[in-house]
Amino acid sequence: MCGIVGAIADRDVVPVLIEGLKRLEYRGYDSAGIAVVDAGRVRRVRRTGRVSEMEAAAGAEGFSAQLGVGHTRWATHGGVTELNAHPHVSHGVALVHNGIIENHEQQRARLEALGYVFESQTDTEVIAHLIDLHMKDAGDLLQALQRAVAELEGAYALAVVSHAEPRRIVCARMGCPLLIGLGEGENFVASDVSAIIQATRRVIFLEEGDTAEVTRAGVRIFDQRGARAEREEHLSDVSLASLELGPYRHFMQKEIHEQPRAIGDTIEAVMDEGAFGAALFGAGAEQVLEEVESVQILACGTSYYAGSVARYWIEAIAGLPCSVEIASEYRYRAAVANPKQLVVTISQSGETLDTMEALKYAKALGQERTLSICNVPESAIPRASRLVYYTRAGAEIGVASTKAFTTQLVALFTLAATLAKLRGRLTAAQESEYLDALRHLPGSVQHALNLEPQIVAWADRFAPKHNALFLGRGVHYPIALEGALKLKEISYIHAEAYPAGELKHGPLALVDADMPVVVIAPNDSLLEKVKSNMQEVRARGGELFVFTDQDSNFGESEGVHVIRTPRHVGVLSPIVHTIPVQLLAYHTALARGTDVDKPRNLAKSVTVE
Ligand code: F6R
Repeated sequence: MCGIVGAIADRDVVPVLIEGLKRLEYRGYDSAGIAVVDAGRVRRVRRTGRVSEMEAAAGAEGFSAQLGVGHTRWATHGGVTELNAHPHVSHGVALVHNGIIENHEQQRARLEALGYVFESQTDTEVIAHLIDLHMKDAGDLLQALQRAVAELEGAYALAVVSHAEPRRIVCARMGCPLLIGLGEGENFVASDVSAIIQATRRVIFLEEGDTAEVTRAGVRIFDQRGARAEREEHLSDVSLASLELGPYRHFMQKEIHEQPRAIGDTIEAVMDEGAFGAALFGAGAEQVLEEVESVQILACGTSYYAGSVARYWIEAIAGLPCSVEIASEYRYRAAVANPKQLVVTISQSGETLDTMEALKYAKALGQERTLSICNVPESAIPRASRLVYYTRAGAEIGVASTKAFTTQLVALFTLAATLAKLRGRLTAAQESEYLDALRHLPGSVQHALNLEPQIVAWADRFAPKHNALFLGRGVHYPIALEGALKLKEISYIHAEAYPAGELKHGPLALVDADMPVVVIAPNDSLLEKVKSNMQEVRARGGELFVFTDQDSNFGESEGVHVIRTPRHVGVLSPIVHTIPVQLLAYHTALARGTDVDKPRNLAKSVTVE
């Protein structure tokens, strides 16, 4: 969703802002803009569409300055228009904003009564006018910002410049991430480290309620009460290579192929320990995890499907009751709380607002045993959790999540085995069997990737279709859900997933010769059941596309196409069977010519409700 970058330097910052915005493109946006302070005046350029269009306009108008802010906007309040694009300006104050201001209507009415004229439909413009209003009595940009944010309700990350103060950027954070990048004689502001990684790796994450002043010489941070605050400096380990495409056509393709490496990195800590144990989840984890009576998983989208797989593992391996709920539902439900319940949030970005709010709600209900499984260090959700397990997938740029999902599954399997061990339910023989399975997983995933040429041939048959059905059973049912989500997100083919046993209770009515039915049918204890369900489809003329394992006892026949992974890998099979459905979605989208990495209407980090 929206992205922020800002810079102050003794060189031209316009290229820094533009490059930063390009690196934020993956988050999803529909307009972009920059504002710079140049020779005592604010100059601004905004465009709907791609950053490159805005860049061309800035180039044509000869933009160059040593101080500026930039933004990519994903429309919420007000349509996709140039007037609604950020930065918003009020009498020489220019600002960019991520988040949503909930009391913007009251503030707008108040400001209009004071004579302010609004040019946009956004909630953001209110903040620009409010800061300008406070500038009149405060006479200082930082103080004006602090007074303005005290009157706002909602979520914001803000970066502000003013023609009256050409030597600083001021910024504020509440509910949306914002960080400061430290350079040599130059400093930066960004919503996401990828926006400034080309300039510096030294970053300070602002905390909730912080405001800050960023000059060329340094940074001053203030906490919510206005007192000076010290915040730790971090060295970001986001690699430039992970932000670049390399030899691949799309980031999604690159990220699918990175999975053996991503999984290998994610299991490294377990392999180094040579055992499952609470310490893998951070300091004090033993106290949090022991005596856990149940597990509540909260997440959205693909991360929710990872949680849905984990439910099978946690119940079967650890013997703990486990429920999984979509975060946006949980947060508005009168849920029954249990202080001995472990609340697990799963989020690639660590910023998803629904998941964050669900976590806050779970805590407000008195559930303090919280664990975040997350791919972005220092992001909001792990920071709000007692324990954290970082997946080490590396930056995920493609909007459709791939390597984040499989690494989440690895983390969740580790959690299930650890909980089992703490409860005395894991024998030494089982532990070494599971460790062995994890050790061999990157290799098994690589074998599944090698199926790509066969899947490309299937994709050509899917490309002209309008609908598809995905079936799975047991722990592979969530993989069917994930396969259907991937296909609809990037190819725009309508796809639904069902537990195969549910087919006869309704969806079978949809099956005809035009409906491809994808079946996840590994060689596990449910295979015979799945085969019966496949018969139900064939009997209605449906065409079956079956992903199974080398050692399962059925073959191709008329209307039944089969692709086999080399062998059934036991308990980790859902991870291996994810790869073919990702590849099927990717190649089908490619055949249909869609924008694979930036599917329409979607954003990478969903920081609004
Ligand atoms: C699907 C996808 C989304 C995300 C969801 C949660 O490919 O990427 O469904 O999984 O928006 O995002 P995170 O994991 O960042 O909380």
